Amino acid sequence: MPIHVQVHADKQAASGAVAARIRDLILLRQHEGRPAVLGLATGSTPLPLYAELIRLHRDTGLSFRNVITFNLDEYEGLSGDRPESYRHFMEVNLFRHLDLRPGATHVPDGTATDQDQACRAYEDAIRQAGGLDLQVLGIGRTGHIGFNEPPSARESRTRRVHLDEVTRRDNAGFFRQPEDVPHGALTMGVATIMDARQVELLAFGSAKAEIIRRTLHETPHAGCPATWLQAHPRSEEHTSELQSRQYLVCRLLLEKKT
Ligand code: F6R
Repeated sequence: MPIHVQVHADKQAASGAVAARIRDLILLRQHEGRPAVLGLATGSTPLPLYAELIRLHRDTGLSFRNVITFNLDEYEGLSGDRPESYRHFMEVNLFRHLDLRPGATHVPDGTATDQDQACRAYEDAIRQAGGLDLQVLGIGRTGHIGFNEPPSARESRTRRVHLDEVTRRDNAGFFRQPEDVPHGALTMGVATIMDARQVELLAFGSAKAEIIRRTLHETPHAGCPATWLQAHPRSEEHTSELQSRQYLVCRLLLEKKT
C-alpha cells in the first residue's frame, strides 16, 4: 500500500508537521531561485495548518513572497467577495495575513461564463507555474478530494462537477440556510492532484474514520475518488530530492471514544 500514514497526537501536531514541510519547501525553492507552488484546500480541516503558517510568518519571518498558490475548488455561482465563497475563506483565514505577491493566489472562478475555458485556463496556469510542489487535501465523507465526487475518473482534470447531497449537508454550516449551498462547483481533477510532487492529506475526527479505511484498503476506483491516491508515485526520500520525487502522506487523527 503506497500511502504513507502518520498518526499524530492531535490536530496541532499533524498540522505542525505539514507546516514544517511547507516551510522546508519554501526555503528550498528560495535557495533554488524559483517559486514554491502550493495546492491549498478549504474547509475546517486545514484551519490549524493555516494558523501555523501565519505564526511561522509572523514569529519566524518566513516569507511567502516566493510562493504561488492554487486552490482546489470553488462553488459555482459565488463570486470571491461573497462570504461563503472559497476565495473569501482563503483571504480571511490565510492570504491577508501573509506577504504573498499580488496575483500569486489562484482560486477557480465560480462565476465564469465559459466554465470549460476557465477550467482549461486553470490547468494551464498550474503548468505554467511549474506544477504543484505540494498539495494539501482534506477528505469528504463521500470519498471526495477537492470536489471530485464519486464517480470521478483517475484521468479527470479541472472541471465543473455536481455536488453530492451528503457534501451539501456537511457544508451547510458555512451558509445561512442549508438550501443556499450551491449544487455545483469547479474543482481540480484527480489527475491534477495526482500530478503534485507531494500530497498531504489531513483527516481529523471519528467522522472521517470509515472513509479513511476505505481510502487505504479498497482497490482504487472512481466510486471512492480518494482511493486513486494509492497510485501516487511516492518516495520516502528527503525533501532535498523534491524535484524528481513524489510522495503522499496521509496524516490521520481519529478521535478516541470516551
Ligand atoms: C475543500 C475541499 C474538500 C474538503 C472536504 C473536507 O477545498 O476540497 O475536499 O477538504 O470536504 O472538508 P472539512 O475539512 O470541512 O471536513
